[in-house]
Amino acid sequence: MAYKNGLQILSLVAVFICVSFCGIEARTPFACDPKNGVTRSLRFCRASVPIHVRVSDLIGRLTLQEKIRLLVNNAAAVPRLGIQGYEWWSEALHGVSNVGPGVVFGGAFPEATSFPQVITTAASFNESLWEEIGRVVSDEARAIYNGGKAGLTYWSPNVNVLRDPRWGRAQETPGEDPIIVGKYAVRYVRGLQGNGNGNRLKVAACCKHYSAYDLDKWNGVDRFHFNAKVSKQDLKDTYNVPFKACVVEGNVASVMCSYNQVNGKPTCADPDLLKNTVRGKWGLNGYIVSDCDSVDVLYNSQHYTDTPEGAAAASIKAGLDLNCGPFLALHTEQAITKGLLSEVDVNNALANTITVQMRLGMFDGEPSAHPFGNLGKGDVCTPAHQELALEAARQGIVLLKNQASSLPLSTARHRTVAVIGPNSAVTVTMIGNYAGVPCGYTTPVQGIGRYAKVIQQDGCAGVACNGNGNFGAAEAAARQADATVLVMGLDQSIEAETVDRVGLLLPGHQQELVSRVAMASKGPTVLVLMSGGPIDVSFAKNDPRVSAILWAGYPGQAGGAAIADVLFGATSPGGKLPMTWYPQAYLAKAPMTNMNMRADPSSGYPGRTYRFYKGPVVFPFGHGLSYTKFSHKIAQASKMVSLLITSPHALTNSTDVKARYTNCNTQSLDLHIDVKNTGKLDGSHTLLVFSIPPPGRSSATKQLVGFSKLHLAAGSEQRVRIGIHVCKHLSVVDEFGFRRIPMGEHKLQIGDIEHSLSVQANLHQIKS
Ligand SMILES: *[C@@H]1O[C@H](CO)[C@@H](O)[C@H](O)[C@H]1NC(C)=O
Ligand SMILES: *[C@@H]1O[C@H](CO)[C@@H](O)[C@H](O)[C@H]1NC(C)=O
Repeated sequence: MAYKNGLQILSLVAVFICVSFCGIEARTPFACDPKNGVTRSLRFCRASVPIHVRVSDLIGRLTLQEKIRLLVNNAAAVPRLGIQGYEWWSEALHGVSNVGPGVVFGGAFPEATSFPQVITTAASFNESLWEEIGRVVSDEARAIYNGGKAGLTYWSPNVNVLRDPRWGRAQETPGEDPIIVGKYAVRYVRGLQGNGNGNRLKVAACCKHYSAYDLDKWNGVDRFHFNAKVSKQDLKDTYNVPFKACVVEGNVASVMCSYNQVNGKPTCADPDLLKNTVRGKWGLNGYIVSDCDSVDVLYNSQHYTDTPEGAAAASIKAGLDLNCGPFLALHTEQAITKGLLSEVDVNNALANTITVQMRLGMFDGEPSAHPFGNLGKGDVCTPAHQELALEAARQGIVLLKNQASSLPLSTARHRTVAVIGPNSAVTVTMIGNYAGVPCGYTTPVQGIGRYAKVIQQDGCAGVACNGNGNFGAAEAAARQADATVLVMGLDQSIEAETVDRVGLLLPGHQQELVSRVAMASKGPTVLVLMSGGPIDVSFAKNDPRVSAILWAGYPGQAGGAAIADVLFGATSPGGKLPMTWYPQAYLAKAPMTNMNMRADPSSGYPGRTYRFYKGPVVFPFGHGLSYTKFSHKIAQASKMVSLLITSPHALTNSTDVKARYTNCNTQSLDLHIDVKNTGKLDGSHTLLVFSIPPPGRSSATKQLVGFSKLHLAAGSEQRVRIGIHVCKHLSVVDEFGFRRIPMGEHKLQIGDIEHSLSVQANLHQIKS
């Protein structure tokens, strides 16, 4: 998101006036103030009237000019109807953030809990954790809203599949597997929006950026000009998967379209993507918003239409309801005057945004009457919230290498620890992008200091690590200490929004620092990496002087404490990589602009992600070691499943059945797996289940179909049930974008076990 110009100044002025004059303790009602005798009895203010009736009542009272000023993120007030202005743009990717103008920290609300960056939380593979974080973030968001410092519409999460390891926004995503990204979306959105309250919303979440957006700036191509050429197959079985899950299962209140084009059309002006798919096929109950300001971009940067009013009309007609940026406020009236758009189109867009505001309770009068109206100052940065931020970081840390069980360190034997590296004492680096102002930080050196005496050396200034002048002091520290921890990696100067990486190696002289310190070190040397995207650390993986490697992602405000807890064994690491760690050599064969997921042997294109790339890796998707050991045993699993095909059209070929999802939604089977902790320490384990379709025409290979996270005490055993949905999980998408279930022997990879499952068709024709 990159806000460009225009009305932002107006909104800043509005916020400033509010800071000076609005009540410190509580905001005045957004609309329908019971103290306003003129408006409180209007029909749209009556909470007992059905929402759709209230929405059309309100729209019926607005003039065209008033309507048009509601099509943008800083929606104007309508004083004659007692409605205040509203800033739609707030962010809460991993904690309430002040990246959008809707949140302004200060006064009674100077901060919020800052959870680990999403890629780290994803590595926990713990679905209930994802939802719990969403619940806590929305508690804090409601509290800050009640205090007049935040909005209720949050443009989070980012659910673009991580396709290319260079992407600067890799950190914001739950990784490269579409099913995991979809599950993350569903859980986080449920946590934010609140469950079990009917159609009501605690806050409104937003899945972004739809679709096929995952290039910011690479080799002269930027996101404002990029046309992503995407096959029907890849759109269906990769790029759109998380968005569909977010809308259909997560019931998200908003979807954001992206800057880029897909197959020659800007996503925010593509009726097929918006009206037909998100709203039509998936049934979005909410609003579609542009990126900031992608309507301006499709006109001014992409020249998709000849006139600005043409761009306004094209996007609203395609299904866009709200514009982040001023473009629609400036050009929609002219579009109507010229006959490119009708007022009914504008009414339809407003119905979608106002419905969400009504579901949030914004037209119900006093905020204190709302179910979350009692949340306030005391509900932000509570000890429980901060503990969850720490727990999330512990669960997300991944142990990549542990030669001769060098970890965990022991407080008895490792009394002095050298803590070295440009990330060894960082604060802001730990929270990544789209963050807020955290409640407080525990840096790595502070965390380790709770277990041992520390000697700290940066080694080099900043992650760019341009010189090796201070390496001698770092080596000296390592010589004196009983153990050495190097905290290295990246930060937002290397990978960020608008900054894609050019390489996968550690920047500057970092590699040299690690090798030299490891050589000098008296005790074990542990490499701790902070990064969003993967790093090619082959040198350290292969160096016997580097005893262990941990990946901490960007571990959030309590990151240093979590790293120390893992290093000293207070927590046994249970995280797994949510993305492939490619070697540097991969990049030359995979231009970032090539959107194809599948490999093309004829051109040497290697394909992307564990699903389609079969070349060498530094660490594979799903990799993650533990301090203990786990074994798996199948307790119960079907060997055969017979599909009842009821549509005569379903059977296209006796060996290749095309079963539409809707014709096949009752087929599901359970795997029962006994997992045992056979080691000496308690620990968490993630059981991953992959399916491999029978060999044949389909180019699909291994695909994750289920996972389960469990905690087991040493020596204990637990039975895990994993549901396999035959139509969803055993189908593959063909080149025309249709899901088919290949008949024959499917293989299920359950941890280290392989299980065969035979799928057969049973044609059962129904006469129509
Ligand atoms: C049926 O599918 C198989 C395997 O995909 C293919 O080899 C065969 O040619 C197809 N038969 C017909 C009649 O289309
Ligand atoms: C998943 O996270 C929740 C919330 O922190 C925690 O209570 C639970 O123990 C975690 N599950 C496992 C298996 O670690």
